[in-house]
Amino acid sequence: MNSQDFDFVSQLLRKRAGIVLGADKMYLLESRLAPLARKEGLPSIDDLIQVVRSRRDERLITQLVDVMTTNETFFFRDKTPFEHLKEAVLPVLAQARKGQRIRIWCAACSTGQEPYSIAMMIDQQPALTGGVPVEIVATDISERCLERGRQGLFTQFEVQRGLPIQMLMHHFTQQDDHWRVSERIRSMVTFRKMNLMDPSYTLGKFDVIFCRNVLIYFDGPTKTEVMNRLAQSMNPGAFLMLGAAETVIGLTQAFEGAQDRRGLYKLSSKAVKAA
Ligand SMILES: C[S@@+](CC[C@H](N)C(=O)[O-])C[C@H]1O[C@@H](n2cnc3c(N)ncnc32)[C@H](O)[C@@H]1O
Repeated sequence: MNSQDFDFVSQLLRKRAGIVLGADKMYLLESRLAPLARKEGLPSIDDLIQVVRSRRDERLITQLVDVMTTNETFFFRDKTPFEHLKEAVLPVLAQARKGQRIRIWCAACSTGQEPYSIAMMIDQQPALTGGVPVEIVATDISERCLERGRQGLFTQFEVQRGLPIQMLMHHFTQQDDHWRVSERIRSMVTFRKMNLMDPSYTLGKFDVIFCRNVLIYFDGPTKTEVMNRLAQSMNPGAFLMLGAAETVIGLTQAFEGAQDRRGLYKLSSKAVKAA
């Protein structure tokens, strides 16, 4: 791939998904675009890029963006966010919402392990929410990931990553060499396609947003833009959970640290007043 093609694809990715591709990521681009070229019946990556450049075919561009996303995820990833949810977030919200539904949004949910981890935790410990109904909305830019999430079908390798064996036994059934999460848990999660770069999305207001391990792919101004938009989708008193390598510091004043817990933020009073 020549440098003009690399620049063309990286600009497309940045514009469409906010994803910044460093100049050292040529190998990544090539290894991900080669299978797409084959799938499209095109002889090479160069031909694929040529087709994208000349035809501006939206279906192909969507697929190109999709294959360039990094979808690494696993059940109860990093553990601490789920401890924060259990110890510091749900009990507070259960009190505050006074019987009204608690809405949780997993923005950038990948193949569903994160929202299903939350659903299993709540299902097993109903006291956490004091019986208040909970709605979990899971979104991602990748239709390929969302489809896997909706199916709730995971490989042996995937269920061995982070999922306690008791939960596997309780909530999953084996289907050939895969494991399917129960209908009960699946029904707690709604999967929807959503691009965090889209300024016009409307999913209503949430009490908790998990936005983990996606901001790392964006540049500073995009992180700020995305976080400010998340703030507009939150109820007063709502919580934001970021990934271990992510922070609001120096990027937005819409959030403030919560209870000295790493990665956990509250919508700031300034943001509430501005809304
Ligand atoms: C590394 S995964 C993180 C999954 C999960 N949150 C976790 O922490 O395990 C990042 C996800 O962000 C999604 N993503 C990347 N850019 C996005 C965008 N602009 N809008 C929505 N999702 C995006 C990718 O498709 C990918 O599934």
